Amino acid sequence: MPSSCPAPDGAELVRELLAINEELSRLKDLDAILDRILTESRRIAGADAGTIYLVEDGRLRFGYVHNDTFIRQGDVTKDIYADFTLPIDGTSIVGHVAATGQPLDIANAYAMPADSPVAFNPSFDRKTGYHTTSMLTLPVKTSQGTVSGVIQLINAKDDAGRAVPFPQDARVVLPLLANAASVAIERAIMTRELILRMMQMAELRDPSETGAHVTRVGAYSAEIYHKYALMQGIGEHERKKTKDLIRVAAMLHDVGKVGISDKILKKPARLEPEEFAVMQMHTVFGTRLFQNSTSELDAMSGSIALNHHEKWNGTGYPGRLADLAAAQGPGQPKAGAEIPLEARIVALADVFDALGSRRSYKPPWPDEKILDLLHTERGAHFDPDVVDAFLDIFDVIAAIRDKYAEDQPGPDAGTGTDAGTGS
Ligand code: C2E
Ligand code: SIN
Ligand code: SIN
Ligand code: FE
Ligand code: FE
Repeated sequence: MPSSCPAPDGAELVRELLAINEELSRLKDLDAILDRILTESRRIAGADAGTIYLVEDGRLRFGYVHNDTFIRQGDVTKDIYADFTLPIDGTSIVGHVAATGQPLDIANAYAMPADSPVAFNPSFDRKTGYHTTSMLTLPVKTSQGTVSGVIQLINAKDDAGRAVPFPQDARVVLPLLANAASVAIERAIMTRELILRMMQMAELRDPSETGAHVTRVGAYSAEIYHKYALMQGIGEHERKKTKDLIRVAAMLHDVGKVGISDKILKKPARLEPEEFAVMQMHTVFGTRLFQNSTSELDAMSGSIALNHHEKWNGTGYPGRLADLAAAQGPGQPKAGAEIPLEARIVALADVFDALGSRRSYKPPWPDEKILDLLHTERGAHFDPDVVDAFLDIFDVIAAIRDKYAEDQPGPDAGTGTDAGTGS
């Protein structure tokens, strides 16, 4: 792929940075933004691999990774759901850069000068067989100058693919890119927090559905879509754009529960048929929230809220409704490809997560029972191609479930748990 592009001149450089900034400002979701930042900074530096860490609760939390040696470009990977933190101090290179706020440029990690302020930890290389040579580690700073993250690029490559020191122009340009990144990252973190707060309002009255559920359904949906898109030959540009939108929109699938009374929402037992009929209206209430908007995110959020309980075989709800504003009950059910793809995906992600979770009306199911149900419902409740995509990436699904395990603190819960073990 693009390793060392010719050193850009000043005007071209400015144009390029503006274009990157523009692109970052279009993306909604944090993961899509981190993915893009790594793509662009690795392209500029000709780097084989890169990792982003974000400051959270006084530590560096792993945020996102690229590695062309281990991860086939464009593939679905569980590596981006790694879950560990590092202290902000001189015990690691990234910790040192976060602590000092100064970039660190290392030509050869295994031949660092004796007066280096920090030592290279070869444990990742030993564990994986990777060979780290050059490392360029940059702080990401907010407009106030506080460090909010670290970008670490590894192994700049020459035209023959050999690892070489980072070129001079990369050392000049990348700090500028890191500045643009910082604004995009802050905005995306605010978007996620805003959504979690909205969902707390809508659902935390129902204590079984938590921020973690919402985050998992968003991530499952994004990765199922990614795999589905690869299987169907959907182009990279559309794939990345839709993956960004679906993660955020899927988090909002049950926002219409805000319109359901506590008596039904919190009932610690099976719902009576007339109660379930009321509950079904959460799909319609949800979609109404997104109706008078032209944004693509609102369009997808409305589509998912409305259609996530439709079933492939035409036995779901709420069905075709001529007038959403006036609808009081279900219409003729939708079936097959008439149900929008994003809703077919969220349907599976939501049920998978609901079955594995404790609900006021049921205990969590073991995986075996859940997978049995998915096989039974392949082509019945669920789009068979979506089930196939899901099963194909089950290792990624499991990594997401581990990372966003149930009693993770929501945005209001204050200090986080540091489950991180380091790598
Ligand atoms: P939810 O709890 O998030 O469940 C989402 C979907 O997962 C359900 O959609 C259903 O398709 C599937 N699901 C959940 N639990 C089970 C289960 O034990 N067996 C099977 N086969 N599928 C299950 P559904 O049925 O349309 O329900 C929508 C929402 O209505 C649920 O969201 C929940 O909030 C509420 N709900 C449904 N049934 C009951 C109930 O018996 N009691 C209470 N209190 N709430 C219910
Ligand atoms: C993303 O994680 O949002 C983009 C990754 C991709 O589609 O390759
Ligand atoms: C560090 O920056 O020290 C952690 C990453 C690595 O050891 O390669
Ligand atoms: Fe729902
Ligand atoms: Fe749900």
